[in-house]
Amino acid sequence: MAMRGVMMLFFQVLILCFQAKAWHAVRRSFELEQTTAPQEKLHLITDCMHVTSEEGEFSFVKLPPVRSTSKHGAHWMTPGVESAERADPDDPSLGAATVCGVYFVADPDQIIEVTMRQVNVDCRTGGLMAFVDGWELNGQYFPGERDHEKPLELRVQEFCAEQGASAGGGPWPPKTVGAASNAWVFRSSQNAALVQYRIPERGSFVLSARFHRNPKPCNIMAEGLAPYYMLRNYGLRRNCTLTALFPAVVSVVAVEVGEINESVRYCERVRMDDRLEVGGSVGLDPSYQLVRASTICGRSRGRVDLDQTILCGTTSVRLISSGRYSNQAMVTMRMADESDLQLATVICEM
Ligand SMILES: *[C@@H]1O[C@H](CO)[C@@H](O)[C@H](O)[C@H]1NC(C)=O
Ligand SMILES: *[C@@H]1O[C@H](CO)[C@@H](O)[C@H](O)[C@H]1NC(C)=O
Repeated sequence: MAMRGVMMLFFQVLILCFQAKAWHAVRRSFELEQTTAPQEKLHLITDCMHVTSEEGEFSFVKLPPVRSTSKHGAHWMTPGVESAERADPDDPSLGAATVCGVYFVADPDQIIEVTMRQVNVDCRTGGLMAFVDGWELNGQYFPGERDHEKPLELRVQEFCAEQGASAGGGPWPPKTVGAASNAWVFRSSQNAALVQYRIPERGSFVLSARFHRNPKPCNIMAEGLAPYYMLRNYGLRRNCTLTALFPAVVSVVAVEVGEINESVRYCERVRMDDRLEVGGSVGLDPSYQLVRASTICGRSRGRVDLDQTILCGTTSVRLISSGRYSNQAMVTMRMADESDLQLATVICEM
């Protein structure tokens, strides 16, 4: 449990570094979630970028800062919030146009279901929320736009609440949403999902997240904790990508890609429709600018352990399938550390 917490923190730190360019400042440094009461699964969202691998209820409240004067001069106060929680007015992440998000990552063979329990995010003051089927960072998506079975328009579902509007006036009832209603339930296609929110003035929301089993995982967000990852196409014409948002040492343990009688080999030079690509990229979508470390084809009988060290913001293993074969690959992925620097196969400019 403690190990998991530490890994999640590390994961979060790396992501924060990774996207620091666009999201100038993140409110406060990443706080460890309170894990003292495991039964009570209510999470208060305090960071602009909140990464979690937990199910449960998540709530966010933003109260408007009120300028008040005292004999010590003008200062900002946030009513109803304790001083420790008080928003820092100099923090640019509180600016009107800031988009924040709750980033969910589940186990590789799970999908994420998000139910909006309460939405008080006023459209008229520029408030907006969105459920993203995957993750978005700096305008790039995981799974990549070309890799997902759904077009981007269907993967990003925006909503807000028309506060004070009569029933049926807006897409959202302004108060509590009934648990029986299915209208505010979203499901991801893979183990990564994101709830984005932009709340310029004031607003709040409560959501609950549940993880369900995915019998046929294709795209996988690696949090770096699984002992190994399986990529499979289930005989279909599709591309499946395993992505980690950290520099990693990737080991291809076993592969079955393409012709049954072909032995495992590197196949950069020959154009093969079915292949496994290992590499890295700067942004989130490896189908754009993947710096390839190796391309592997064929069938291994037993372990091969082809290691590569990818020093990029994003590490990816892509299984590209024509649909003519049942392909699969077993890989391990662990975070690269200093001792791996000299063995780097690929280094991205960051
Ligand atoms: C899979 O990826 C390859 C190479 O990036 C591309 O040529 C092909 O069209 C993709 N296939 C599908 C089904 O998206
Ligand atoms: C594998 O079998 C296919 C036909 O099934 C043949 O065309 C190909 O040359 C064979 N490859 C090797 C390496 O034996």
